[in-house]
Amino acid sequence: MAIASASSVTSSVVKPRNTITVVDNRTGKSIEIEITNNSIPATAFSQLKAPYADGERTENDTPYGLRILDPSFINTAMIQSEITYIDGNKGFLMHRGYPIEQLAEKSSYLETAYLLIYGELPSKSQSDLWTWEIMHHTFVADDLQQMIRQMRYDSHPMSVFISAFAAMSAFAPEANPSLQGNDIYINNKGLMNKQIVRILGKATTVAAMAYRIRINRPFTPPRSDLSYTENLLYMMDHMAEPNSYRPDPRLAKALDILFILHADHEMNCSTAAMVHVGSSLVDPYSCVAAASAALYGPLHGGANEAVIRMLTKIGSVENVPVFLDAVKQKKELLFGFGHRVYRETDPRSKVIREVADMVFEVCGREPLIEVAIALKDAALKDEYFTSRKLFPNVDYWSGLIYKAMGFPLDFFPVLFVVPRVSGYLAHWKQQLESGKNKISRPRQVYVGKSRRDYIPVEARVERTITGQNGLTEIPHYISKRRLTKI
Ligand code: SDX
Repeated sequence: MAIASASSVTSSVVKPRNTITVVDNRTGKSIEIEITNNSIPATAFSQLKAPYADGERTENDTPYGLRILDPSFINTAMIQSEITYIDGNKGFLMHRGYPIEQLAEKSSYLETAYLLIYGELPSKSQSDLWTWEIMHHTFVADDLQQMIRQMRYDSHPMSVFISAFAAMSAFAPEANPSLQGNDIYINNKGLMNKQIVRILGKATTVAAMAYRIRINRPFTPPRSDLSYTENLLYMMDHMAEPNSYRPDPRLAKALDILFILHADHEMNCSTAAMVHVGSSLVDPYSCVAAASAALYGPLHGGANEAVIRMLTKIGSVENVPVFLDAVKQKKELLFGFGHRVYRETDPRSKVIREVADMVFEVCGREPLIEVAIALKDAALKDEYFTSRKLFPNVDYWSGLIYKAMGFPLDFFPVLFVVPRVSGYLAHWKQQLESGKNKISRPRQVYVGKSRRDYIPVEARVERTITGQNGLTEIPHYISKRRLTKI
């Protein structure tokens, strides 16, 4: 048999095209979908329609087109963004093209916030105006201060922060699209910029108010002659010292670096909430309250607080193996480890580790760091964690720094949300200015009961109530001194 020479062999391989072809085996129909930026539009799949299969539930909506099911957005993008890029496999993070390590070393938090929101590093005059505007929008309305003052002294500071921003929307009616019209931010950059500087300026004041409630002290008026983080520490700690009091500049600098590291992280749970809520065109104060509520959770921004509770519970280096066994038996969670995107160490946690040494020099070494190092080293040698790509994330070390600086445990998430407000605002602005804002309204796949007719109460049978299908017993506080039981 003649063997074709290499030159005579014609390639049977089709020239690669930047598309995918999907064949619906229910109908034999195929569609070719364009790939853009390594992604495809989920709406393309709605072209694939089929008749109901024999006995199929009509609730499957099969003839109306195929849906994509992706609970928790494991592999679904809700936005195209120019703000932040993360390479989770390489442990790489950049904002508007600048690597986080360079920003942490060379930038300041307010400069990074400007970069996130406006897309470029500010010139000297832009930076001066930006700083001036923010530091002259730090006051919180007196009525709002009085409202917040009424909260319980032991309120979790995140509850105070969320409440303050939700209420703050009532103090800017001129900035409320529900009152002034849908397009107020589209045609009025000055109005949008004013809310941006107001929210950034007041974020630290509200945070300090939440702290002052916890220690039952009067609120300290902000100062415009201090840096962003100096002013936060001043409002938190100033008591009877003369007004010349200033926080330790080394700690203000450490906090500024931590703020840079926490400023943005693309579509995390809380920033997605900001964009989702913002898509309804509600005012930005309400959006920040909603996003802050998402960050409050222990799986998200509440993790830095949970890490310290975990390390305290472990107590000593000797107890690390027992704790890790409990984690592997899924009886415990290793807070500060793991990440939806990073399959390598979170680059922020590497920088934070250096900031920790800076802070320990000033405040003394935090004893729990020995447990944290032993726990991290043991986990990174254990196949259970390495096989699941579980590495320290940004929250693993930050709590130790905050603890060394003497912040109360439940204040830690506030130190995360304050800087993250700039990331929220950057994504909110990007969404409104994209010209493509549509209200976010995810699809669902209904797997509940099919259509059925109403049953009058006298015809209903008694059911044994479990947690799922009815109102179970609700515990009540009944005073022992009460004559009759409820
Ligand atoms: C932040 O999204 C962001 O960018 C967030 C953030 C930001 O800047 O905005 O980076 C800030 O929130 C950092 C994450 C802080 N949270 C924690 O440290 C809480 C502990 N971490 C986990 O809850 C968890 O890792 C998440 C929530 C962070 C990520 O969870 P995923 O992506 O949903 O992963 P998963 O739950 O599907 O876990 C995969 C496997 C599971 O085991 P198997 O079912 O395969 O047996 O890994 C296990 C999980 O049980 N696992 C953990 C674990 N994290 C995941 N097991 C023990 N301890 C952990 N921390």
